[in-house]
Amino acid sequence: MKKAGISHLSLLCLILISLLFVSCQSQVPEQAQAIKGFKAFDAKAKEILSQMTLDEKIGQMTQPEQDKVLGNAGDMQKYFIGSVLSGGDSDPTKDNSLIEWTNLYDRVQEEALKTRLMIPALYGIDAVHGHSNVLGAVMFPHNIALGCTRDPELVERIGRITAKEMRATGIHWTFAPAVTVPQDIRWGRTYEGFSEDPEIVKVLGKAMVMGLQGTDLSDPLSVVACAKHYAGDGGTEATKAPRPGFPGGDIVRMWLDQGDTKVDEATLRRIHLPGYITAIEAGVGTIMPSYSTWNGERCSGSKRLLTEILKEELGFDGFLISDYNAIRQINPMNIKESIMISINAGMDMAMEPGGYREFFDTLKTLVEEGSVPVARIDDAVTRILRVKLAMGLMDESKTHKADRALHNEFGSPEHRAVAREAVRKSVVLLKNDNKMLPLSKTGARIHVAGKNADNIGNQCGGWTIRWQGQTGDVTPGGTTVLSAVKQAVSKETEVTYSLDGTGAEGAAFGIAVVGEEPYAEGVGDKEDLSLDAQDIATINNLKNAGIPVVVIVISGRPMIVNDILPQADAIVAAFLPGTEGQGITDVLFGDFNPTGKLSFSWPRSNAELPMNINMPKEKYNPLFPIGFGLSYN
Ligand code: GLC
Repeated sequence: MKKAGISHLSLLCLILISLLFVSCQSQVPEQAQAIKGFKAFDAKAKEILSQMTLDEKIGQMTQPEQDKVLGNAGDMQKYFIGSVLSGGDSDPTKDNSLIEWTNLYDRVQEEALKTRLMIPALYGIDAVHGHSNVLGAVMFPHNIALGCTRDPELVERIGRITAKEMRATGIHWTFAPAVTVPQDIRWGRTYEGFSEDPEIVKVLGKAMVMGLQGTDLSDPLSVVACAKHYAGDGGTEATKAPRPGFPGGDIVRMWLDQGDTKVDEATLRRIHLPGYITAIEAGVGTIMPSYSTWNGERCSGSKRLLTEILKEELGFDGFLISDYNAIRQINPMNIKESIMISINAGMDMAMEPGGYREFFDTLKTLVEEGSVPVARIDDAVTRILRVKLAMGLMDESKTHKADRALHNEFGSPEHRAVAREAVRKSVVLLKNDNKMLPLSKTGARIHVAGKNADNIGNQCGGWTIRWQGQTGDVTPGGTTVLSAVKQAVSKETEVTYSLDGTGAEGAAFGIAVVGEEPYAEGVGDKEDLSLDAQDIATINNLKNAGIPVVVIVISGRPMIVNDILPQADAIVAAFLPGTEGQGITDVLFGDFNPTGKLSFSWPRSNAELPMNINMPKEKYNPLFPIGFGLSYN
C-alpha cells in the first residue's frame, strides 16, 4: 500500500506540536521533577559497597544515640557508625543553644570521617514543628493545627524553613512528617497527625516532604524527610490494662500508644496508607515503621508491610529506619531473634540508641551463621548509600561542616512571619454568640485569664526543647497570647491578667486561655478529655464578673467543652500554635477573618469516643464535625 507522503504543512504541524509538548514538559513545575527516586545512584552505591567489609556494612545499618556513642571513645570508628540520632532529650552537653547543636553536629562528622572509607554520618532528629530541639528556633503549629489550614502551599513553605533552620546546625535528617491518621483522639500522639481524614493527610504530608527535601536532596538547604510511623500507628484500639514495660506499668489504665491495630488489609490501605503513597511520590528518603502491631504482628517485623507492600508494590527505594529500640519489642525475650526477623522483613537501619554494640555484634553473628543473607545486608546498605549519595554527602569536596552563615536567618522575623500566618490560618472559630468576635482594640479594659494565657511551653506542646515539652518559658523569641493581646490593643486600653479569672469586674470582656499542658507519645494517652477543674473555674470566674467571655482552647486535640459551653460567648480552637501567639490575636481582633476548619471531629462527651469520620455514619454525632469552622461574615 502506497505510503502516504507527509506534506510540508503536516511536517510543520508535527514539529510545532512536538515543540509545544517539550515546552510544556519543561514548564512542569520544578516540584514535580522531584519524583525521580534513588535508584539513579545505584551504580555509585554498588561501587562503594564492593569496597566494604561486613563490619563496615553493618556499621552503616547501626544508629546509636549521639551522647551514648560519643561517650564511648573510639566506638564511632570501631563500629563504623554510619548514622546517629538525637532522640528526645539527647542534647548537647552544655545547653540547647544553636551554637552547641552546631558544634555537636561538626563533632559527630569529625568522628565519622575517621573511619577507613570516610563515609559521613547521617544525623537524625525530631524536627517535627520547626527545629524544635533548639532554643530560639521558630516553633510552628503542630500538625493537628496545620491540618486545619488545608493549605499545602503553606505547609511546603514551613517545611522549607524548617529545613533551613536545621541546616543552620548542620543536621540534615528529620524524623518527620508523621503521616499518621489518628482515629481515637485519646491517643497522646493525636497532635502529630494532620487529620483523622486520610485525604487531608496525604496532601499535607506530601507538601511537608516536598518542603523539607525540596526538588534536589543535594541542595545545602534541603534535609531528608522520614514518613512515619508505618503503618496504622493511629489506628490502635484503646486498652484498659497494665501497660508492661512503661512507667506505672502495673496500674490499670487506658492506653493506645504502641497498641494493636485490628483492621483488615483493605481498611489499612484505605485509612493508613495514603500518606505513604504520596510521600513516596514526593521522593521521601526514609520511612519509619511503627512500634504498634497490625493484627498482633509488630510492624517492625512484618515482611508483608516492609517488603511486599512498601518496597515491592509501592516501589519505595529509600531506606527504613526502625523506631527507638522498636526492633527489641518483636520478642523482648530474644533480641537475636528480633533482629533476625526485623532485618529479614526489610528493616534497613536500626535505631539502637544504647544497645548499638549488641545490635552490631548480633547482626554480624546472624550473617556469619547464614540466618540473615548477605544479599539482605547489601540491599540495606545500598539503600542507605543511595540516600547519602542523593544528598551529596559522599562528595569529597565537601567539608561536612555546618554552614554557620545560616545562623543569621535562624529564628528570623521572616521565618516567624510564616509561623504567624500558619497560626492565623489554623485557628478554628467554633462559637460566636452575638458576634462577640472580632473584639474591639479600643475597649477600656480587657481581662485575660487561664493557665495557657502566658505560657510559651503550653503553646508549643510536646517535642519542644524537651521530649515531653515543658510548661513555662521553654524557649526564647516567642509571643504568648497575653503578650499578643497587649501588643494588639490601643495604648489607651488596659490589659489585666489573673490565672484564675478573678478581678475581671468592669472589664469590657474576658479572654480565658485554657486546655492542656505539654506531653508526648504514650504519656499523653488520656481517657478523660474534659477541661480540668482549674480551667472551668477560671471561665466561671470570668463569667460571674458579668462580662462577655471568649474561651481559647490550646490543646493537642479536641476537648470536651460541654461544662463551659453556656458560659462561653465565643470559643476558639487554637490547638498547639507554637511560638507565634500573635497569629491568634490577628483573628481575635479581626485583622484576619478566620478560615480554619477542624481537621478532627470534636466530640460531645468522653463516652462517645472514639469518634471519627471513618466510623459508621449512623454513629457519627460530634459536637462539631470535621470541616467545621465559622467566619466573621
Ligand atoms: C520516638 C518516636 C519517634 C521518634 C523516635 C526518635 O520514640 O516514636 O516518632 O522519631 O523515637 O526520637
